[in-house]
Amino acid sequence: MAGPTPDFWQERFDTGQTGWDRGGPSPGLLAWLDSGALAPCRIAVPGCGSGWEVAELARRGFDVVGIDYTAAAVEKARAHCRQQGVQAKIVRADVLDHAPSAPFDAVYEQTCLCALHPEHWVRYAGQLRSWLAPGGRLAAMFMQTPRPGATEEGLIQGPPYHCDINAMRALFPEAAWVWPKPPYARVLHPSKAHELAVMLVRR
Ligand SMILES: C[S@@+](CC[C@H](N)C(=O)[O-])C[C@H]1O[C@@H](n2cnc3c(N)ncnc32)[C@H](O)[C@@H]1O
Repeated sequence: MAGPTPDFWQERFDTGQTGWDRGGPSPGLLAWLDSGALAPCRIAVPGCGSGWEVAELARRGFDVVGIDYTAAAVEKARAHCRQQGVQAKIVRADVLDHAPSAPFDAVYEQTCLCALHPEHWVRYAGQLRSWLAPGGRLAAMFMQTPRPGATEEGLIQGPPYHCDINAMRALFPEAAWVWPKPPYARVLHPSKAHELAVMLVRR
């Protein structure tokens, strides 16, 4: 299978190479929550990592399911929710195969897409669509990390893999998703890259 494996991520957690981890919920998510753009509902957080966003959503009354296939991430996210005294379900599963027991009203996508090799993007986008009820929201933080090797030589570099907005338009086409008009809010990332905050609605 192309790209990183659970062992790759487990090693990153075991050796403390978790440069993506903000140590708290993303300011982009907090902005959506504070503005009411995301209101309590049944929500999935794929590739939830340490679970900062899972715990914050649970604290604000969401029915949250965090999904991650790495043992260390699942343990951390569960421990984090326990410490915060909040209830959330953390499922150990591959987002490319996972079939939830019931549809979600929303998905919060932060650094799971960019953690997947682009070979898997079409399948992942199909999964997200299948998890959401019609009218459901895909609250996406699209990672912007263009690399010279890609534009100069066509190298596929990552993770994180650059989520070019044109590629995102192809992956989540207007026929299947309602796109808000750009420009989109920039959310700074600990890697010094930034994310574009885009709220899509499943048709
Ligand atoms: C870069 S980390 C981001 C973690 C978290 N979203 C954050 O922003 O702090 C990527 C996470 O996605 C998980 N992941 C990657 N591929 C996955 C897959 N196919 N299924 C489930 N989880 C996956 C990894 O285990 C890791 O925890």
